[in-house]
Amino acid sequence: MCLGGPVGQEVVLEAIRILREEHDVILRALDILSVMAFAADRGELPRHQDATELLDFIRVYSDGAHHQKEEGMLFPAMERAGLPRTGGPLAVMLAEHEEGRDLVSRAAAALAAPGLPADAARAFGHTAGEFVGLMRHHIIKENQVLFVIAEKRIGAEAAAELDAAFAGAVAREGKVRRLHVTNLEALEARYVKAVA
Ligand SMILES: [Fe+2]
Repeated sequence: MCLGGPVGQEVVLEAIRILREEHDVILRALDILSVMAFAADRGELPRHQDATELLDFIRVYSDGAHHQKEEGMLFPAMERAGLPRTGGPLAVMLAEHEEGRDLVSRAAAALAAPGLPADAARAFGHTAGEFVGLMRHHIIKENQVLFVIAEKRIGAEAAAELDAAFAGAVAREGKVRRLHVTNLEALEARYVKAVA
């Protein structure tokens, strides 16, 4: 559903509102991961189950539900609105998604690797810290640049189609989304709120 009519040439997209809301949740996960990464840099590995749960959240919610909607629905709609997939903001966003996937895999591998806990901690801290920095900047670019372009370029008819596709995706994701956000809240209470 389209939240509003055209504002000048702009259309306010419910799809973008959903993505911005998901960014807020992902930023909370990044806050938890940065606490874990900071401790790991000093040689202190996070509880294995906590780190695994958080990486699982990132894979399922952030890279799964969220990036699937961006890559599978929003970006193609932007391409149809005339934005090239190569050499512009879409290419940068796609490359950063890939870079993020690689860093998450490396962070998970560090947790699973045999060896001295201090070495594993440093490897986890390094890759997790890099991922946090990458994704925080990535989210700023999407919120402040890409989504603004989307709302300027996507016309009313395409916006209505995109919003309907997003509504369907969110409904399908329902149970998984709730489960993972509940896990996130538990980790947040243990790591972020305990530090504050
Ligand atoms: Fe995003």
